[in-house]
Amino acid sequence: MKGVVFTEFLEMVDDKFSPEIAERIIDNADLASNGAYTAVGTYDHTELVKLVVNLAAETGAEVPDLVRTFGEHFFHRLVAIYPHFVNDDQDVFAFLESVENYIHIEVRKLYPDADLPSVKTERPGDGQLVVTYESKRCLADAAHGLILGCLDHFKVKDKVSIDRQDESEGKGSRVRFNLSKAA
Ligand code: HEM
Repeated sequence: MKGVVFTEFLEMVDDKFSPEIAERIIDNADLASNGAYTAVGTYDHTELVKLVVNLAAETGAEVPDLVRTFGEHFFHRLVAIYPHFVNDDQDVFAFLESVENYIHIEVRKLYPDADLPSVKTERPGDGQLVVTYESKRCLADAAHGLILGCLDHFKVKDKVSIDRQDESEGKGSRVRFNLSKAA
């Protein structure tokens, strides 16, 4: 997993919790990297899992809630880092369709070793989009947060509902998000 995910996660912990908590979750995680991440480096994604579990222990929050909150924060950071991938005039469903067919393809050109999930889409009917997330890294909660971040960015958070179905026996490795626009 690219270091940008870790640097942005720790930045969020600094801001939403405190720099002391960020330091403690690193110290208590016994990481091969020692928590010294660079944005372009590549690290074992289980380090992120350890940091989130420690953050849950420090704050009393639930792991899935923390991962979803991070996903939402990460989307806003991705827009700031890669503004050319996001056309604000685009419809949010068209944007979500472009993640698999364009954005993640461009990301892989920039970082051939990137660990990218599959984010397939289909339109079953008017005002509906199905986004199916699949990845052995089981970060469906992050995908959920990233989708919430998109809805927020395109200012339609209160106009689109999300119904979530795990298709991997609760493992979060394959999850279907049914998005519906309010009539
Ligand atoms: C501007 C838009 C986006 C950009 C530039 C972007 C780019 C990236 C980058 C750089 C990574 C890290 C790769 C690595 O760690 O090696 C990543 C991972 C990921 N992306 Fe995207 N992404 C975008 C939008 C989205 C959206 C809307 C979703 C919603 C489903 C999504 C789902 C994910 C997930 C869940 C991961 C974590 C890896 C995994 O689960 O296997 N991304 N993306």
